[in-house]
Amino acid sequence: MCGIVGAVAERNITAILLEGLKRLEYRGYDSAGVAVLDNSGELHRLRRSGKVAELEQAQQQEQLTGRLGIAHTRWATHGAPCERNAHPHFSGDDLAVVHNGIIENHEALRKQLKALGYVFVSDTDTEVIVHLLRHKLDEFGDLTVALKAAAKELHGAYGLAVVSAKQPDRLLAARSGSPLVIGLGMGENFLASDQLALRQVTDRFMYLEEGDIAEIRRDSVQIWDANGQPVARESVQYHEGAEAADKGEYRHFMLKEIHEQPKVVQRTLEGRLGDHQVLVQAFGPEAAELFAKVRNVQIVACGTSYHAGMVARYWLEELAGIPCQVEVASEFRYRKVVVQPDTLFVTISQSGETADSLAALRNAKARTDKEGRYLASLAICNVGISSLVRESDLTLLTQAGPEIGVASTKAFTTQLVGLLLLTLALGQVRGTLAPALEAELIDELRRLPTRLGEALAMDTTVEKISEHFAEKHHTLFLGRGAQYPVAMEGALKLKEISYIHAEAYPAGELKHGPLALVDADMPVVTVAPNNELLEKLKSNLQEVRARGGELIVFADREAGIENGEGTFIVSMPHIHDVLAPILYTLPLQLLSYYVAVLRGTDVDQPRNLAKSVTVE
Ligand code: G6P
Repeated sequence: MCGIVGAVAERNITAILLEGLKRLEYRGYDSAGVAVLDNSGELHRLRRSGKVAELEQAQQQEQLTGRLGIAHTRWATHGAPCERNAHPHFSGDDLAVVHNGIIENHEALRKQLKALGYVFVSDTDTEVIVHLLRHKLDEFGDLTVALKAAAKELHGAYGLAVVSAKQPDRLLAARSGSPLVIGLGMGENFLASDQLALRQVTDRFMYLEEGDIAEIRRDSVQIWDANGQPVARESVQYHEGAEAADKGEYRHFMLKEIHEQPKVVQRTLEGRLGDHQVLVQAFGPEAAELFAKVRNVQIVACGTSYHAGMVARYWLEELAGIPCQVEVASEFRYRKVVVQPDTLFVTISQSGETADSLAALRNAKARTDKEGRYLASLAICNVGISSLVRESDLTLLTQAGPEIGVASTKAFTTQLVGLLLLTLALGQVRGTLAPALEAELIDELRRLPTRLGEALAMDTTVEKISEHFAEKHHTLFLGRGAQYPVAMEGALKLKEISYIHAEAYPAGELKHGPLALVDADMPVVTVAPNNELLEKLKSNLQEVRARGGELIVFADREAGIENGEGTFIVSMPHIHDVLAPILYTLPLQLLSYYVAVLRGTDVDQPRNLAKSVTVE
């Protein structure tokens, strides 16, 4: 989604700002811009709709230079994605703002500001911020004081960076609902919406908290909290992720991230497995006491993370004997829900900043006793410094490392691992999971990274199979039991990056509708581990073949499904049925990747999608 970079230094900072924007490209955006204060004290702006590369090209012609500046990648929410709506937005020719988030009272503010004579040139909510700030600046004379006053009138979510030609010694920042981090240098300081943008200039960071306003100068940083009191925020050294911004030997981040899965699954397991049991304290010091009280689980998430939750429901009910509901956050947050007593509220999120998931958590926490409170909240998340983690009672961090490809891969499989650990922990503490079965699954989990490596070794087989899809417009994905959400995730991956329409069905539902669509132009992808549903699945496959449908089946090598006319089998390593959803996800990720490559799409940044959806 939108990205912010800012810098105040003694050297020319234009290249640093553009490099920062490039590092944020993975979040998804549709236009980009930069504003730099030149050495004669004039503020210059360059904006382009489209990619940062186009902004860079413009910069080669214009050669903006300066020591103070801000830059932005925009993902349109108010107003079309075009140059006029791209940030930075100006008030006059000396004040510039970039903004992530949404100002909810922008219409009322626009009306007031128009009445005061301000002229609006964009359709964005952001432009009200810069004019409001100008208004306050005229009143107070000092930019920092003006920003503090303006912030009080803004409702909604924002991360802001501000520069003014009148006060060229400072870069200002304000955070309310959109993350911001200050990068600390030697005689120079930086700002960004994600530390990844600044890894080329520093490894020391200071994270702003909700309501913070910061005045960043070359040699000092001053921060005021939500109550206007001066505060010191801890500075931290960041080592993780240096390698993540680099594709290495891989053609795309997505392929690199698919192949990282054995390693990151291993990392997610580290320190969390005892000899025969899950270490319950991995969920936090209070986890054992809390888990003993859990009688229900409510899972809320979006996108791929929601699919992880759907798999977990099968595990929680079957292995831990706990009723579980799973819902997408955008629905859950606006629904009147009846809370069962002793329900653990679980959010799953790669980023920890997804607006709907965060709102669902906040609503859940705000419930009163009369409405029925949740027992506690748990976040399964990949970003330790995210809002979701900070606001949850318990956390289990997945150790996937930064995920750059918009289509989630390694975050999903590590979420599944985290959810299986949760299932085992709940079953263990509540005494509903037989110790022998837990011990067996712990052994299986230890072997999982090796199994995942074996599945990835089928890379070239899957690449060959992808040719069946290159010219197709529609596909069906089938699975039964916990493989049904795996089929859903496979279909989501294919549509996200290859733009082929893909739908997933529980195989048993085939004859209740989708069979009508099946013909030679509609390949049907099926995941078929060797479990008690296999025989039923085989009959479903016959139903497809009888209608001339082409079958691609990822099947356990002992499943007894044979290659034949119109049936292509990919033999999978044998795995315990409980862990099969994790293993069978990998070939589906590879399949969508290779189909997208064949179709020549922008694999890492598919059209219209964003990595982290921080607005509603
Ligand atoms: C976006 C991303 C998806 C992701 C979803 C939820 O749609 O493109 O890959 O699954 O958001 O994101 P989260 O960070 O909450 O897991």
